[in-house]
Amino acid sequence: MITASAPGKVILFGEHAVVYGRPAIAVPVTQVKATASIEPGRAGRGMTILATDLTRAMHLRDAPADDPLASIARLALAHFNAPEPDANVTVHSTIPIASGLGSGAAVSTSIVRALAKFLSRPIDEAALSALVYEVEKLHHGTPSGIDNTVVVYARPVYFVRGRPIQTFSVKCPFTIAIGDTGVRSPTKIAVGDVRRAWEADRARSERLFDRIGSIAERARAAIEAGEVDALGPLMDENHALLREIGVSSDELERLVSAAKEAGAAGAKLVGGGRGGNMIALVDVSTREPVERALREAGAKGVIVTNVE
Ligand code: PMV
Repeated sequence: MITASAPGKVILFGEHAVVYGRPAIAVPVTQVKATASIEPGRAGRGMTILATDLTRAMHLRDAPADDPLASIARLALAHFNAPEPDANVTVHSTIPIASGLGSGAAVSTSIVRALAKFLSRPIDEAALSALVYEVEKLHHGTPSGIDNTVVVYARPVYFVRGRPIQTFSVKCPFTIAIGDTGVRSPTKIAVGDVRRAWEADRARSERLFDRIGSIAERARAAIEAGEVDALGPLMDENHALLREIGVSSDELERLVSAAKEAGAAGAKLVGGGRGGNMIALVDVSTREPVERALREAGAKGVIVTNVE
């Protein structure tokens, strides 16, 4: 049996504006991951894919054209120029779905990596990221490409749509608590609503995106200079702008306020918004009170992770 995996991710700064060409910063979250296993199947049966949330294995040859799991398998086989193998793929993920942690990109990445090992065809990160991006279009509509990039490279990334990826160094490691509202919110819907607002009043949306882009630039400079104290206010500012864009929700507001009241230096929603996760900047003294406050305010899960 061959297995391969990929981490989750979180966008620290710049979501939504990144779809419109502004920079964003994202980091991997290694406490959660997607894993694909693959083993030889019965001769002539072709490939089956079993996801732990599906009740039965799906035959690749019968799967609908827009099924994300089948799509990544088909794209990978086309990339490897390989016929469909007789093999059974099982996918398991500890990354909550539709909650801003990159589960779709991680599942796709793990499947391609497992197939690459099974077929003994190496694939480099750029090619892998491009394949995963194709499937992100099914999840997202108009993805910026940040999810596939950070999940595949598994490093902190400063991302500008259409430009080569830039990784950067974190001078002083810092800690974030990630709180899950438990509300599943497909990114596609929030991204579509943001698009409609942009179409209705481009000048207003572009002004908000400019402000978010400038926060992402300042945050990168602060992270590279080890100025962790600067990050909290930048998170708060970014969150306020995301609220203005219309992608916050009552549950997200409750968790963001709870984290701040418990001493977090800053807090914001992450990813598509409307539900999913938020992050709070914590340190040794605020970590526990913030984690407790998030749970008391209704968080369905809290992950504490170091950015380094
Ligand atoms: O909800 P997530 O973590 O998949 O992130 C979406 C990020 C957006 O900027 C809202 C969309 C995108 O494609 O970049």
